[in-house]
Amino acid sequence: MKRNPTELLKFIFDSITTIAKIRNHEALLISLAQLGRDIVDADRCSIWIWDKVQNKLWTKVAQGVKTIELEAQSGIVGTAVNENKEFIINDVQNDPRFHAEIDKKNRYVTKTMIVIPMHNQFNEVIGAIQVMNKNENGIFCEQDSEYLKLASTYAAESIETILLMEEIENTQRELIYMMGVIGENRSQETGNHVKRVAEYCYLLGELYGLSPKECKILRDVSPMHDLGKIGIKDAILNKPGRLNEEEMHVMKTHAKLGYEILKSSDLELLKAAAIVAHEHHEKYDGMGYPRGLSGDAIHIYGRITAIADVFDALGSARVYKPAWSDEKIFSFFKEESGAHFDPHLISLFFEHKDKFFEIRDRFRDV
Ligand code: C2E
Ligand code: SIN
Ligand code: SIN
Ligand code: SIN
Ligand code: FE
Ligand code: FE
Repeated sequence: MKRNPTELLKFIFDSITTIAKIRNHEALLISLAQLGRDIVDADRCSIWIWDKVQNKLWTKVAQGVKTIELEAQSGIVGTAVNENKEFIINDVQNDPRFHAEIDKKNRYVTKTMIVIPMHNQFNEVIGAIQVMNKNENGIFCEQDSEYLKLASTYAAESIETILLMEEIENTQRELIYMMGVIGENRSQETGNHVKRVAEYCYLLGELYGLSPKECKILRDVSPMHDLGKIGIKDAILNKPGRLNEEEMHVMKTHAKLGYEILKSSDLELLKAAAIVAHEHHEKYDGMGYPRGLSGDAIHIYGRITAIADVFDALGSARVYKPAWSDEKIFSFFKEESGAHFDPHLISLFFEHKDKFFEIRDRFRDV
């Protein structure tokens, strides 16, 4: 539909008011794409992100279609980001730069298009905003391109924030994984132990009904359950036999120690890691350590990690004991259901045993 300038102003004003209230950046981008589309009276709007390392373009928002990934050296959008140029093209099908495959895949015919590169605060190109097909077979003009730039400036800001947050999360995850591996290396266990414990935890979380987000958090942080072992001296940690009472007393401080290392962090992941370090040796009947918590007073992350850790510890050889047979582990788990372990989690374990063995096989020690 055609709008007169007054209507258009009102429309922009309404949109900006809506957009200003959106705190979630992903949702904001979707609204900005809608704004971009409506402001220039187009059929579709896509927001592209340029991955310069792989020179790929992918759609962060693509109305009506799934995420698209493209090699960035060619195509109209590729040219726009590589050469930092805007395009208004009203005869797309005859443009030699146009990639027709995407149209074919989406059963869509692009006739007209505007592409505008988006910039970060250092004026580097980070992607592009693209609108397709002016409604009623119209053609795009310079004025449309100016309007679209409005949306593109806001979109660029959200994208920068989203990318930054993703980067921070990835960095956190890597650091946390490395901390877990460091803790385990001190106690001469293989890196696969932490991978298995992480996967068992994820699976138990899923079976228990934790949200996908919580399952992922638990998978990321469970490798740190024994971080506190970095504070236990070698003579005890790697003693090739049973620990005496005095040594076991020192050993048990690793739960509190790990918690002390992690607890002061504001990072969501490290807070969860602190809980796991603190509570993975608590027992359901209250006979565990360090606090002797019982039942649901033990955080679900702690109850889950306890089973994952002991299942893996029993099935593996340690400096102080050989690996146990599966039968021995099963009868131990049955005996300890409701004592060491949350009985509900134990029944989930037995109902889905095969899945646990799949993980064990996938990350077998070599
Ligand atoms: P870990 O080897 O990873 O064992 C984790 C948990 O699995 C243990 O927590 C325990 O609940 C269970 N577990 C492991 N092996 C056995 C076993 O042979 N029998 C039974 N019933 N349970 C087992 P726990 O007992 O609090 O020990 C914490 C950590 O202390 C162990 O981690 C290990 O690093 C160390 N540790 C415990 N006992 C000894 C020991 O006799 N000698 C040595 N060198 N280290 C020990
Ligand atoms: C192109 O970059 O050539 C076209 C991309 C698209 O159709 O969305
Ligand atoms: C903690 O105890 O480590 C924190 C809160 C909780 O009990 O889960
Ligand atoms: C182990 O890493 O299992 C040994 C240490 C442990 O995970 O408790
Ligand atoms: Fe431990
Ligand atoms: Fe462990």
